[in-house]
Amino acid sequence: MQKRHLLNLITGAALAVCGLAHAQDNAFKIALILPMTGPFASTGKQIEAAAKLYMAQNGDTVAGKKVQLIVKDDAGTPDTTKRLAQEMVVNDKVNVLAGFGLTPLALATAPIATQSKTPLVVMAAATSSITQASPFIVRTSFTLPQAAVGIADWAPNNGIKKVVSLVSDYGPGIDAEKYFKDRFTFNGGQVVETLRVPLRNPDFAPFLQKVRDAKPDAIFTFVPSGAGAALMKQFAERGLDKAGIKLIGTGDVTDDDILNGMGDVALGVVTSHHYSASHKSAVNQKFVEAFQKANNNLRPNFMAVGGYDGMRVIYEALKATKGAGGGEALLAAMKGQIFESPRGPMFIDAQTRDVVHNIYIRKVEKVNGQLYNQEFDTIKDVKDPGKSK
Ligand code: DHB
Repeated sequence: MQKRHLLNLITGAALAVCGLAHAQDNAFKIALILPMTGPFASTGKQIEAAAKLYMAQNGDTVAGKKVQLIVKDDAGTPDTTKRLAQEMVVNDKVNVLAGFGLTPLALATAPIATQSKTPLVVMAAATSSITQASPFIVRTSFTLPQAAVGIADWAPNNGIKKVVSLVSDYGPGIDAEKYFKDRFTFNGGQVVETLRVPLRNPDFAPFLQKVRDAKPDAIFTFVPSGAGAALMKQFAERGLDKAGIKLIGTGDVTDDDILNGMGDVALGVVTSHHYSASHKSAVNQKFVEAFQKANNNLRPNFMAVGGYDGMRVIYEALKATKGAGGGEALLAAMKGQIFESPRGPMFIDAQTRDVVHNIYIRKVEKVNGQLYNQEFDTIKDVKDPGKSK
């Protein structure tokens, strides 16, 4: 009797293990690691919402696999991002690492992708060099050099010759400063001062006072998604707009998530970027409507599009490998994908694993009482200028 009991137990355990193995075989796990709390929580919220929308629209069974999205909050802390990625690779056997709301978070995690041969899809971070940190990184966001050269070409043809640059003091800000300055100077403009503001708890006031004293035609700025509201407020409070100083930048500063709350001080601000919620295409209209419907009327920003397109790249790679491939096969199927994104045409350059897309010049205007970045010029198929060196 006892022997039989033992046998039953063993059989039960074996089945449980088999069942587990089977469940694992049939599951395709995506670790989505994002800042869901802290100062960069809007990036996490936008990307999570977009990834869930993509799954709702495209189903959660792909090539016979059940897609599981595992969302984790790293609070914007690199050590946490890395630890979460390691745990999920080792314990959960995730197939893909995704998210990465800030450059330091992506860079901290790159070695995990390399060591475990797990594709890492960067949906937000935008320093040029990130894709070089691991051969397993694919990017669906954008790069700062891509975005910055657009406005550096536009400005000198539009009465802006003397500029002070003001950027967040870390990877993407330093990229923005460098690529703006090089191109703007090449175009005959002059950057008279380059100011860098701390990433954490920035106080823009003393920097804006310096800008005021330098009396430039414009301030060129990069701040990460979400920080633009404080900058714009202090810009107005210090009277820079009244002093006739314009504000230009990459589109991070007039982020669609916060633009409408900025008020009239944002009107007329010209930026260059790869996405505006008011981009005119059927694909984008459908995306914006569905996103707002699913998220209590929240307007999607460029982070949401990076997340949505990242999911597309993962789904199509899974389809192409018929659900059978490991990390290397998936990675190969991500390279070279070409499709129409809500941002416009987009492809993943197979050589660099980085995104190639249009950069639009946009001006903040009021449309039906709401502020939008209205695109008025297009630079087609822009590769990351940071990769040509
Ligand atoms: C990065 C973060 C942002 O919020 C942004 O708008 C651009 C770049 C980054 O950390 O790479």
